[in-house]
Amino acid sequence: MDSLGLFILLILLCFQWRAAPAADVSWTYTGLVGQTEWAQYFPECAGTSQSPIDVVSTQTKYDPSLTPVTPLGYSQLGHRPFTLSNNGHTAVIELPDWMGLEGLPWLFTAVQMHLHWGSGGPSHGGSEHTINGLSADAELHVVHYNSELYSNMSEAVAQRNGLAVLGILIVTGEKTNPAFNNILHYLSRIRHADQKVYIPAFEIRSLLPKDLGRFYRYNGSLTTPPCYQSVIWTLFHERVQISNAQLLKLETILYSSKAGETERMLLQDNYRAPQPLNHRLVFTSFTADSGKELSSGEVTAIVIGVMCGCVGLAVIVRFIVKTIRFFTLLHRETVVVNSSTSSWDVLPSNRPAPMPRMKEPEKAKEAKQDVALSTSPAGAQKEEAPSVPPAQTEP
Ligand SMILES: *[C@@H]1O[C@H](CO)[C@@H](O)[C@H](O)[C@H]1NC(C)=O
Ligand SMILES: *[C@@H]1O[C@H](CO)[C@@H](O)[C@H](O)[C@H]1NC(C)=O
Repeated sequence: MDSLGLFILLILLCFQWRAAPAADVSWTYTGLVGQTEWAQYFPECAGTSQSPIDVVSTQTKYDPSLTPVTPLGYSQLGHRPFTLSNNGHTAVIELPDWMGLEGLPWLFTAVQMHLHWGSGGPSHGGSEHTINGLSADAELHVVHYNSELYSNMSEAVAQRNGLAVLGILIVTGEKTNPAFNNILHYLSRIRHADQKVYIPAFEIRSLLPKDLGRFYRYNGSLTTPPCYQSVIWTLFHERVQISNAQLLKLETILYSSKAGETERMLLQDNYRAPQPLNHRLVFTSFTADSGKELSSGEVTAIVIGVMCGCVGLAVIVRFIVKTIRFFTLLHRETVVVNSSTSSWDVLPSNRPAPMPRMKEPEKAKEAKQDVALSTSPAGAQKEEAPSVPPAQTEP
C-alpha cells in the first residue's frame, strides 16, 4: 500500500512537473528560451507544418478554385472602443466577434490582430513570411477562429482548420499610412508589458491591401508558442506601405519588460524565422502573368516611357543621318580637292551605284525569259533593252 501510494504521488508529481513548464515558461525570440529552444517546451514547435515559411514563387501552385477572401464587418466601427495591449511579445488589438471572414470552406470569426517587426529600420527584416527569400519590414496578422466547427477561440486554437489568419506584409516608403496611425498613436500608452488601453474604433479594412483577390494559401501554424498547427494561412500578394517614421516608432517604442522591472528590454525583432515547408504545397489564387491589372500610375509610366524611348530613338537616328551626311560632304570636298584614289573613294563611288546594279540581275532574268520565248540569240546579248529584241526578231 505504501509503495502504491508513493507511486501515485510520483506520477502526480511527474504530471505537475511536466505540465508546469509549458504553461508558464516565458519564451522569447532570442536568448535562453529563444525560438531555437521553443520545441523543448512546446513540442508542436518542432512539427512538420510550421509557420512562417519562405514562399518560393516558382514552387507555388495556381489553384483556380481559390475564391477571394471576403472580410465581414471590417469597415464597421460598432459602438465600443478597441482594446490595445502589450503582451510582452507584441501589440495586440482584440477584435469584436461581429467581424469575420468569408471565402474559406467555413465561416471564421475575428479574434485579434497583432504585429511583428524588426529593429534595424527599412530593409533589415521584420516580417515573418518571406517571398523568394526576401523579408518585408513588418507583418500584420488578423486572427480568426472557425466558428462553424468550434464555439470559441480556446476550443479551436489547437484543432486542424481551427484558425484562419490573414498575413499582410508591410514595407516602408515615402508616404505616411494614416490607417496605421490608429494604432501607432497609442503605443506610447502601452510601452510596458501587460499594459492595456482603450482606443477609438477604426476601420480594420483600411489596414489591408486594396487587392484581396491575389494571395498565397497554405496550411501552417501559430508563429509563437505553442505553435499549434491549426492555421489556414492567407498571405496577400499586395503589400501595404507605411513611412520610415512609422516603422521607427513601431520598432523603438515598446518594451517586453513590465513596468516595475528595473531592467528595461526593448520589444524588437519579434519575428520567427521561416520554417521548413516539408511535404506542403503553397497554392496561389493568381498566375504570374494573368490578372496583372495596370494601375493608372503604371499606365502613365508606360506611356511616358514609350514616348521617351521614341524621342530618344528619333534623336539617335537624326544624329546618325547627320553624321553620315557630314562625312559624305566632307568626303566629296576631299575628292574635289584631292582627286587621287585614296581608300575614301570607295564610299562615294558606291553610293550612287547600288540602284542600277540592283536592277541588273532582274533585267538579266527578264532577258533570259524573253530569250526562252523568242529563242533568239540577240535577246541575250542586249541586256539594256530586253523588250526590244523580240520585236526585232519578229520578221
Ligand atoms: C469555450 O467553449 C467551451 C465549450 O463550449 C467552454 O467549455 C469554454 O468555457 C469556452 N471558453 C471560453 C474562454 O469561453
Ligand atoms: C490543408 O489540409 C487539408 C486537410 O486537412 C486539405 O484538405 C487542404 O487541401 C489543405 N490546404 C492547403 C492549402 O494545403
